Amino acid sequence: MDHFELRNGVLHAEDVPLPAIADAVGSPVYVYSRATLTRHARVFREGLAGVADKHIAFAVKSNPNLAVLRLLAREGFGADVVSGGELERALAAGMPAAGIVFSGVGKTQAEMARGLEAGIGQFNIESEEEGIELAQLAAAKGFTAQAALRVNPDVDAGTHGKISTGKAENKFGVPYDRAGEIYARLAALPGLQIRGLAVHIGSQLASLAPLEAAFGRMGDLMRSIRAGGDAVTHMDLGGGVGVPYKAGEVFPSPAEYGAMVARVTADWGAKLMFEPGRVITGNSGVLVTRVIRVKPGVVAPFVVVDAAMNDLARPAMYDAWHDFVAVEPNGARMVANIVGPICESSDTFAMGREIDAVGPSDLAVFRTAGAYGATMANTYNSRPMVPEVMVDGDKWAIVADRIDPAVILSAERVPEWLD
Ligand code: LLP
Repeated sequence: MDHFELRNGVLHAEDVPLPAIADAVGSPVYVYSRATLTRHARVFREGLAGVADKHIAFAVKSNPNLAVLRLLAREGFGADVVSGGELERALAAGMPAAGIVFSGVGKTQAEMARGLEAGIGQFNIESEEEGIELAQLAAAKGFTAQAALRVNPDVDAGTHGKISTGKAENKFGVPYDRAGEIYARLAALPGLQIRGLAVHIGSQLASLAPLEAAFGRMGDLMRSIRAGGDAVTHMDLGGGVGVPYKAGEVFPSPAEYGAMVARVTADWGAKLMFEPGRVITGNSGVLVTRVIRVKPGVVAPFVVVDAAMNDLARPAMYDAWHDFVAVEPNGARMVANIVGPICESSDTFAMGREIDAVGPSDLAVFRTAGAYGATMANTYNSRPMVPEVMVDGDKWAIVADRIDPAVILSAERVPEWLD
């Protein structure tokens, strides 16, 4: 459920008509609903009511906006970060360092050092090499790094290949068959307290079955490590719960996910950690765009909108579907191709899709754009960085400015030897 609804024929974010925001801020612009974010955060937590000892670390990568992070910090969420930049954001948002988990295959020495100095709660180590480096760094600085070992369970998540992470050939984690011996070696290192296992098999999962299979394998591994004499007190189950992108699609609910987790982990005797991203932020945001013009096409007309693949990359990168709806629908429908202004054919949001009829200067939104939307934006074709707005009831505020191409240009230099 979200709070983007038609009222008197006009699409609102909570109590704010979207044209009011587009008129004031311009377009394209991302709009997030505070009530929806809060609701999703609470529904996720309530879904896990059957898990007594838990920590929820929001996957910052899905939406790193400072206001979004602050809201989730207030909801008691920690953060799953994958770079020094995300770490600074989580801290700036007021997330306690102890609630921060640092994931990622390529943590640099500088990033690990910053994490240690900030006192983060857990490093998710993705290789034996990384564990050894972290142990040495921590020992040299007089810290003990709390860590979990990320394991690749070789389970097919059944999602798009580019967002699948748990197959043996993927770059993430250590191979399942070697995890026990690597755990034992890391457990012996000074500077490192290896306390658990981590798994994340992919994103936008449509079914709980692959998650259950992966968790089952992780439980087996946990028991065999314990039998070997090493402690396993924390189990990080990652993120990955999918969300509906098309009206009417049904996905596993947080309650169903939580019930499955509670059942599979009932006898684990470990603190469980979670890294949800999309399920919190996806349906909490829309991308508002204005139609520039409608151009006839051979098969269907092209609706050229002012948002492009630089603002919302998912359709170009993963053939992702985002519902497109008019902000002031007139009841008529049309079949059209929806494209942005960028000079390549991958700047296509939809082909031959039946949509609300729209014409020049009409506003429309791409729905379910709160996750992996603004965060993946760039300035290709020297377009501005897309701004972000948060709505709360009848209030709204710009939470990220539009960054003008002139500002980006001002950071570039022509070396004098070129002239
Ligand atoms: N934990 C780890 C270690 C991850 O790599 C990810 C996502 C998550 C948690 C959060 O997963 P979620 O709950 O959001 O599914 N840009 C792609 C998605 C990439 C996901 C990367 N990792 C997209 O737009 O679909």
